[in-house]
Amino acid sequence: MKFFLDTANIGEIKEALALGVVAGVTTNPSLIAKEKQDVKAVIREIARLVPGPVSAEVIGVTFAEMVAEARELAKLGDNVVIKVPITADGLKTVAALTAEGIKTNVTLIFSVNQALLAARAGATYVSPFVGRLDDIGHDGMKLVKDTTDIFAIHGIETEVIAASIRHPLHVTEAALAGAHIATVPYKVLLALLNHPLTDAGIARFLEDWRKAMQ
Ligand code: E4P
Repeated sequence: MKFFLDTANIGEIKEALALGVVAGVTTNPSLIAKEKQDVKAVIREIARLVPGPVSAEVIGVTFAEMVAEARELAKLGDNVVIKVPITADGLKTVAALTAEGIKTNVTLIFSVNQALLAARAGATYVSPFVGRLDDIGHDGMKLVKDTTDIFAIHGIETEVIAASIRHPLHVTEAALAGAHIATVPYKVLLALLNHPLTDAGIARFLEDWRKAMQ
């Protein structure tokens, strides 16, 4: 399983890239809005920094709006992937963009059937939202597992991005469920590093070293 970073914050992206584990970035309109900057400038800068796919989401809701917006976003970098919501117009958009050689990430996936439709329309990625399903008492990770299983059974090459990841256990479970990618907020990425025994171990090594060298 690869790691993508789920943010539009340039500072977080630079810090995370330095860790050497981030293979791509996903954004969404809420994340971009938080940055209070020109959307195109932000996406262009992220695409320049990241040596991997960068998902930028369309705001339009009709086929015509989504395709027009996607074509503009795709010009911001060779690695820009167009994030499209799973609606009828979204599916049409995915099919049209696929025919033009533009990669897509179908977002707001909450059922296996939505994921299957997106894949058959040509999606490069599908993004099942784990945390938001958990929030309403459903099993978000089961959707990731079922989707990866069904894609494997049918030889579907669309990659599954476990999205709406809220904590480290989600990451472990996504890997076990066979997700190709987990897109994680920066704070969750950092939390993956933490273990109290690691901290205690470093402190003890340093203390032993200090005593021996006195
Ligand atoms: C996925 O691509 C989305 O940007 C994101 O993971 C949504 O996460 P949230 O449900 O925590 O907002």
